Amino acid sequence: MAQAFDARAFIREQRDGARHPPGAVRDFVRAFTVGDVPDYQVSAWLMAVFFKGLADEETFELTDAMLHSGTVIRFEDLKGPTVDKHSTGGVGDKISLPLAPLVAACGAYVPMISGRGLGHTGGTLDKLESIPGFDPKLKVADFKRLVREHHFAFGGQTAEIAPADGKLYALRDVTATIECIPLIIASILSKKYASGTDAVVFDVKTGRGAFMRERADARKLAEGLIAVSKRLGKRATALVTNMDQPLGHAIGNALEVVESIEILRGGGPADVRELTLALAAEMLVLAGVEPDAAAARKRAEQALASGAALDNFRTIVAAQGGDAAAIDDPTRLPRAPHLVPVPAPTGGFVHAIDSYALGELVVHMGGGRAKKEDAVDPGVGIVLLKKVGDSVDPDEPIAHLHVRDSDAGDLVRAATGAYRMEKAMPHASGLVLERLA
Ligand code: URA
Repeated sequence: MAQAFDARAFIREQRDGARHPPGAVRDFVRAFTVGDVPDYQVSAWLMAVFFKGLADEETFELTDAMLHSGTVIRFEDLKGPTVDKHSTGGVGDKISLPLAPLVAACGAYVPMISGRGLGHTGGTLDKLESIPGFDPKLKVADFKRLVREHHFAFGGQTAEIAPADGKLYALRDVTATIECIPLIIASILSKKYASGTDAVVFDVKTGRGAFMRERADARKLAEGLIAVSKRLGKRATALVTNMDQPLGHAIGNALEVVESIEILRGGGPADVRELTLALAAEMLVLAGVEPDAAAARKRAEQALASGAALDNFRTIVAAQGGDAAAIDDPTRLPRAPHLVPVPAPTGGFVHAIDSYALGELVVHMGGGRAKKEDAVDPGVGIVLLKKVGDSVDPDEPIAHLHVRDSDAGDLVRAATGAYRMEKAMPHASGLVLERLA
């Protein structure tokens, strides 16, 4: 008879900072996935990891075991390479929406697996679901078929994909053990690589609106994501990018879809366009579609200018049950009934916009979830009229709130409070801070 997993000894080892023997972490993942280790013992181990960390070998073993805890999708029948992007989460980060159809239009296959809003950050699946009828809850067979037919699809984690992560993540969420680099690495990589991609570009956010506020932590996370990816036989690079102010102008689900469509039409805010092209270039080189970043960028610019990426987006929206007419007529998207201007706190130059505060504000307005089971309101959100570096007259509005209730005094005050103004112009800070390979 197989010996039962000794959870007490395993927790004790981790608590005391001793290393687990080879295979022990794998046995632990196997045991808790089938329900042989109760949640309280899993939680105790997680907290011990939070304080004592994991050795590189243990992080690798945890990731690999979680990756193989359910179905591992294989795209054997594609005529080209697969590549995906993963963002560690930000405010106004709608990049996946224009990026996947753009990279697909350039010849790579993009089996994109996305998440829902987490804390103050928005999630791609919630944004896409604001398109009436759009269904990202794809079965594995449908996901594979759509990727084969259209070069990309927007899916989410299902119970079949990395179920160990689903279980661990739910426990981490309620035991204050999310912000732990080895656990984040295992969580992100297990579901990405179980979804069948050969390569991933990581957009690791840093700054006020990111989970990794400190640049050094963001770099450490990026290095870990790349190192474990390589050990798994995958190709990976990372951009560390600035999340000190929201990305683009729109924050909120349907509003971000509208901004994504502007990007696909060749317009939209400069920072969203720039990051979309930078990540597209990384993905095309990583997938081997283009030999270098300059050629890849040129190809991506052409796919935006020709409308090929926009056509792709329209096609996938229809294929996933969504109202494709909304792509050409955004008034078909949900919209909150009231538009309330946010006055500037004073005149001057915008020096900082607290992206964390604005992300939280949109959650509070109903655009995100306070509890896992909450429904999100697709129509609410904020459109920033002024960003860092812009000059503002004392009476000019700096933003518009899209709200359900016109009595929005508290929300307006909170939005005004997120802006810091100064008399002098601020120094420009870059968007892509660092590239790691
Ligand atoms: N996103 C994930 O998928 N997992 C984490 O642990 C953190 C962010």
